[in-house]
Amino acid sequence: MNGLLIKGGRVIDPASGTDGVRDVLIVDGRIAGVGTGLKANGAAVIDAKGLVVSPGFVDLHVHLREPGQEGKETIATGTRAAAKGGVTSLACMPNTVPPLDSPALIGHVLHKAATEGVVRVYPVGCISHERNGEVMADLAALREAGAVAFSDDGNAVMNALLTRRAMVNVKALGVPYVEHAEDEHLLDGGVMHEGRTSLRLGLPGRTSLAEDVIVARDLILAEAAGAHVHIAHISSAGSVALVRDARRRGIRATAEVTPHHLLLTDEAVGEFDTRCKVNPPLRDEPHRQALIAGVVDGTIQAIATDHAPHGPLDKDVEFTSAASGMVGLETLLPVCLEALVHPGHLDLPGLLARLTHLPARLFDLPGGTLDVGAPGDLCVFDEKAAWVLDARTLASRSHNTPFDGRKLTGRVVHTIVGGRVIVRDGALT
Ligand code: DOR
Repeated sequence: MNGLLIKGGRVIDPASGTDGVRDVLIVDGRIAGVGTGLKANGAAVIDAKGLVVSPGFVDLHVHLREPGQEGKETIATGTRAAAKGGVTSLACMPNTVPPLDSPALIGHVLHKAATEGVVRVYPVGCISHERNGEVMADLAALREAGAVAFSDDGNAVMNALLTRRAMVNVKALGVPYVEHAEDEHLLDGGVMHEGRTSLRLGLPGRTSLAEDVIVARDLILAEAAGAHVHIAHISSAGSVALVRDARRRGIRATAEVTPHHLLLTDEAVGEFDTRCKVNPPLRDEPHRQALIAGVVDGTIQAIATDHAPHGPLDKDVEFTSAASGMVGLETLLPVCLEALVHPGHLDLPGLLARLTHLPARLFDLPGGTLDVGAPGDLCVFDEKAAWVLDARTLASRSHNTPFDGRKLTGRVVHTIVGGRVIVRDGALT
């Protein structure tokens, strides 16, 4: 028998409401049972006593940078970073070089993921040809090739006619339209959140209205098309309110938020720390509180990293010209615990729901549950382990994280994908 028995951990499966000491048996890559006193019958055994056993995390927003920017990340290194963070399935964004706007490129990513990756990779296809924001890509062909959603992430689709047409198409294809909601004109050249810190530093600000305006437009167009619109890395109080209201009115609107927007504010930029330059920007405390409230009340269903690797050539430069983005896969769990669980906003099963079956459902991905027959994907972690991050030890090819040197609590111990142990005792196998 090709099996693996994870014994005696606190098994939390939010989809089924399971929370208790159990064993999990994986046979032939799939969950074969969850219960007490399960017998190994020749399966390899992992002792999970004192640890939490969760479905592997499902991250809807990762930049793997391949093809084209392999100096920042590759499918090989990015999926290893994912595994170290407990992520067993990820959706990768199409702002590669060239962008994922053709079936051949989607096929290329899937082939590389199958041969060089260590977690499940689901590509997101471009909405527009060459991500030019004007001419629609062949969404049906991209879907056929394996795209699970569509986005021009990195930029909003500024052309409302294109958005309208794309929404009609994604509705027919049964997949989400994923918006990077920032109106380029309203951004007005800003490089961080428009507020007290941008004033203090003398940096041009990005108003949160730039996000709200695109979200409002998309909700109107999604309602008309009957489409599912998913707001990527939601960051403003205004857009949380808009999505909440739209959902009450029955519009198929969903949203994800990043761990860094939940934990940090624009004050983290401090003295021009480019590691805290991200799009959309880190905002102020009232926005952060609105994001937490949105996560708690279900307006925001998923937590997604927006793992955005950049090297020193793009980050060790003056703030205005630095690239935006931070890596996030390997700090996902501890940052979420610090932002949501330790202050009492969510309990642990509540957090895990937003990292597992809820995101899986949004993009209709397998996994995220411990149902019998589900993929044998697990994250086994020590909720209490305290450690200090040394960014040089990350599996990601890039080290652009503001959490370097920070004391973190919560550490991934084992990551299992399809019954294969990818991370054992915190190290890649
Ligand atoms: O900060 C960001 N970085 N936001 C994005 O939307 C794109 C990403 C990237 O690709 O670096």
